[in-house]
Amino acid sequence: MEIILHRILPQMQFLRVSHPSGVSAFDSSMPCLRSQRARRGAKLLAASTLRNNIERAYNKTAELLPPTIAWRIDYLRPGLRGSWGGPLNGQRHRQAMVRELLQLIPFDEIVETGTYRGTSSEFFFHVSGRPVRTVEAHLRYHFYASRRLISYPEIEVTCGDSRSFLRKLATESAARRKAILFYLDAHWNEDLPLVEEIMVIASTWERCVIMIDDFEVPGDYGYAFDDYGPGKALTTAALPREALGGWGCFYPSVPAAQETGARRGCLVLASPKVVTRLGSAATLRREDVNPS
Ligand SMILES: C[S@@+](CC[C@H](N)C(=O)[O-])C[C@H]1O[C@@H](n2cnc3c(N)ncnc32)[C@H](O)[C@@H]1O
Repeated sequence: MEIILHRILPQMQFLRVSHPSGVSAFDSSMPCLRSQRARRGAKLLAASTLRNNIERAYNKTAELLPPTIAWRIDYLRPGLRGSWGGPLNGQRHRQAMVRELLQLIPFDEIVETGTYRGTSSEFFFHVSGRPVRTVEAHLRYHFYASRRLISYPEIEVTCGDSRSFLRKLATESAARRKAILFYLDAHWNEDLPLVEEIMVIASTWERCVIMIDDFEVPGDYGYAFDDYGPGKALTTAALPREALGGWGCFYPSVPAAQETGARRGCLVLASPKVVTRLGSAATLRREDVNPS
């Protein structure tokens, strides 16, 4: 249900965008055009609902299978490689944000929590040429991503909980000295590892940037964000402010209407030692409500 509500429905925003003529798909003043478009919209909606229901049934069945079998069946479906429309939810501005961060800060490596199908992990390696570490809690997705990424020795695919993974990484002195771009995307259900992930990172890495997917962009609700109930929404209220003194807080510089793909919101946090480097970032908008 979370996938349908938060990932698929936002992608259906094309039903609301304006026609190139400037006439909105739903408010044309020409009644016959309006009914044609409404019929087409209804058909698209019905087709999409059917696809969603089939996908849900597929997933429910796959969940009943041992992960060692489920991932193999997944792997036979090339359409699953793209996750939600491609790397970083198919969002072109978000991809540009990552490219710009990589230009502005000489990161030694990238760490992703929540591998899923390895779509973004592969992208991170392609755009950075730097080693990528990614961690996934679910065996089915871990096996899938391990197979998918087998030809990339530079991408380390780990199975486990993101919190334990980061805590362990934080004990490695060589890793601690590195400049790291963290992509936090291990939110999937009520067990939200986000606060603990941030606490470990902020108390360990001096030169790092944290990009959090599915985060609220205040004032722009075209960007969807995860909300798992009271106290479990990905908003600034959930941030451990005490751990983020001196950090910079950034959002996408473009409104959701100019973003592509699933249009998920995100927050970028930059550690005090690197934050000034992001002053010229065109893809980011610094927010005054600094979590400090
Ligand atoms: C939104 S998906 C990640 C998508 C992926 N980053 C991408 O861009 O294609 C979230 C993934 O996080 C995983 N996950 C959830 N909780 C986790 C945890 N505590 N540790 C590691 N992975 C977790 C889920 O199994 C799921 O595969």
